Amino acid sequence: MAEIPVEYNPWVDLLRPYEPGKPVEELARELGVEPDAVVKLASNENALGPSPAAVRALQQAASRMHLYPDGSCFYLARRVSQKLGVTPDWLVFGSGSNELIVLLALVFLRPGVTAVMSQKSFLIYRLVSRTVGAEPIEVPMKGWTIDTHALQEAIGEDCRLVFIANPNNPTGTAVDRENLEAFLDSLPGHVLAVVDEAYVEFMPEDQTPDLISRMKNGRMICSLRTFSKIYGLAGLRIGYCVAPPPVASLLQRVRQPFNVNSAAQVAALAALDDEDHVRRTLKLVASERQFLESELRDLGLEYVPSVTNFMLVRTGDGRRTFAALQERHIIVRPMDVYGLSDFVRVTIGTHEQNQRLIVALRDLLNGRGG
Ligand SMILES: Cc1ncc(COP(=O)(O)O)c(C=O)c1O
Repeated sequence: MAEIPVEYNPWVDLLRPYEPGKPVEELARELGVEPDAVVKLASNENALGPSPAAVRALQQAASRMHLYPDGSCFYLARRVSQKLGVTPDWLVFGSGSNELIVLLALVFLRPGVTAVMSQKSFLIYRLVSRTVGAEPIEVPMKGWTIDTHALQEAIGEDCRLVFIANPNNPTGTAVDRENLEAFLDSLPGHVLAVVDEAYVEFMPEDQTPDLISRMKNGRMICSLRTFSKIYGLAGLRIGYCVAPPPVASLLQRVRQPFNVNSAAQVAALAALDDEDHVRRTLKLVASERQFLESELRDLGLEYVPSVTNFMLVRTGDGRRTFAALQERHIIVRPMDVYGLSDFVRVTIGTHEQNQRLIVALRDLLNGRGG
């Protein structure tokens, strides 16, 4: 309880600030080294950096930063809608897909209703549900995969949203396509399914569920996408929601007028058509995932097979691994907040970065930590 004379919403006491990946600059300051000496493998960013086309577009647009952005993201909405085969009124853009989760909560959640989600899934769903006083119901996983049956069982009359990250963070796994589609088809009409597809571009296309045709058939589903991962624009904060127009228009009502800055809009538009950067990113992630898997097997470290650009690795006391790797200028993510205190989550980096990680892990295992 905060000791202030102004009454505040009591559920705020249940919230704990989200602990993001440690910034490169912070560790560099702590260790007294240059930021370039630090390798960050903690936030599932793009190892190749931003799309070069996005960087060029941003540089050209810089002289217009005195103007407010286009609140409707007109050009971006037009391009994304062409790609997806929907009209622009299906799209709502946000300051990262994170903001879309907040907008969904503002529209659909309140005290007295529930949001259903999986236990080891993106923590923001729980945080945001609690922020608006709703009750998050977290159901167990089936091994390392989201259990759609358990989600279904937890959906009651009071449920408004069900969150499914596919692929899931932090496990890196995806739900089997037929299973997920059957789950979505079986949902009661009073529940909106929020399929968070932040990493969808990394998974095999034939395993990706067909959400838009279901939405077109009247199913209450929306999909969240981001420019933070495959397009490498995490620092600009831009993502979007694809939803049937009646749902999208509700989100538009609670959106702040200039929620997506003009730099993000310009860069995202250029990144969307930078197929070369996407292709190179996918190639790197696929080959480096294999490299890491094989090296981890050699080290005798268990990992969770991933379809994304990150993976869970069981190192024993993840906080200790996190601290010891920092001594070697490498930032990974401890997983105790997800109830996985034996694990760290590692973003798949460049070959050089991954090699540094493996050398450091080998040293830790051989007792040459620190
Ligand atoms: C599953 C998932 N959803 C959403 C996000 C948020 O992405 P952003 O707000 O950068 O678009 C992340 C970020 O790590 C994520 O892992």
